[in-house]
Amino acid sequence: MVPRPARNRHRARGARLHPVRARDRVRTQPEAGSGALSVLEVRNLHVTYGSGDRAVPAVRGVDLSLAAGQKLGVAGESGCGKSTLALALLRLLPASARLTGEIMLDGEDVLTMKWGRLRAVRWAGASIVFQGAMHSLNAVHRVGDQIAEPIMLHQRVTIAEAERRVGELLQHVGLPAARANAYPHELSGGQRQRVMIAMALACDPQLIVADEPTTALDVMIQAQILRLIEQLVAEKDISLLMISHDLGVLADTCDRLAVMYAGRVVEEGPARSVYGAAEHPYGRALSAAFPRIGDPASRRAPRGLPGDPPDPSSLPGGCTFHPRCPVALDSCADRDQELVTAGEGHRAACVLVGSEKQQ
Ligand SMILES: Nc1ncnc2c1ncn2[C@@H]1O[C@H](COP(=O)(O)OP(=O)(O)O)[C@@H](O)[C@H]1O
Ligand code: SF4
Ligand SMILES: [Mg+2]
Repeated sequence: MVPRPARNRHRARGARLHPVRARDRVRTQPEAGSGALSVLEVRNLHVTYGSGDRAVPAVRGVDLSLAAGQKLGVAGESGCGKSTLALALLRLLPASARLTGEIMLDGEDVLTMKWGRLRAVRWAGASIVFQGAMHSLNAVHRVGDQIAEPIMLHQRVTIAEAERRVGELLQHVGLPAARANAYPHELSGGQRQRVMIAMALACDPQLIVADEPTTALDVMIQAQILRLIEQLVAEKDISLLMISHDLGVLADTCDRLAVMYAGRVVEEGPARSVYGAAEHPYGRALSAAFPRIGDPASRRAPRGLPGDPPDPSSLPGGCTFHPRCPVALDSCADRDQELVTAGEGHRAACVLVGSEKQQ
């Protein structure tokens, strides 16, 4: 590990990225009672692919808040809009996607940023680690050159300085500096994901978005990569938004969890209560499907949820979960639910929240 000096992240980053406007920045209010500033504040975000009959409303009114140094896990089955949300955060979606709402990153709305500012914010303000590093890395370039690219682009340094930084970053993620000369196919899946993490760290972002960063890896390597991410974000006081279909993995890594269903957050709160005592029937099904390794209470066979998530282009009316919900009421087919308080810092969107009718 190469120790790096602790510093005032916000002041240093603001000055480096945009010296003139740094003093004019408006910070979002801290979460009530948290005492911490929000690095990311997503408000009423909608993302729709295509239009007319072919419109696919993939994200439908998501609100999220992430404090400095906090780790937020976003869970949900395939197709519920997790990757769309991740890509929206840095406006990396295809041109067919229409976005509305606000994505406040360190007090600036990503959705209204000019392209030059957006380019500066990508990597240096926030960076993304995707699933399956083989597809994200360029097969014909050495990994060292690929890590050096954002450094050269964002920090006017010499080639020699960029190479020194690359060696340092590789060591920081547990790889020998000499692996900079390797091509992606010469590395194992776990090593490639370490390279992706080194790239994500290259420009000292204040937020890392990790979209299923360990899904393509075997269980042992998955655990190593998760511990590495945890260690690095803690060491550098980086905020983490981690996405996974596996609520158990997120509960082990994150402070707070948000559960998505059909493009909406249906439950959110402290990781321990969402994973251990979910209030939404979908949250409960998801935590039962992914038991925690080593937890004796989770030794029961994982219970799957019958049926498939709905097609976003033809969502059921009322609560979108009602066709699969084991405790649905007749009224659930007609009325959708907003998030309501389900405990301390815990909210769920279900008519039965707080009711004794829950099973
Ligand atoms: N480029 C696209 N064009 C049209 N529909 C898309 C596109 N990307 C994703 N979708 C659709 O949006 C929905 C959400 O997808 P995605 O965000 O990838 O979900 P997740 O990451 O949770 O699996 C899915 O129904 C998917 O088919
Ligand atoms: S609102 Fe009704 S259908 Fe939806 S999760 Fe709650 S009980 Fe189930
Ligand atoms: Mg995805």
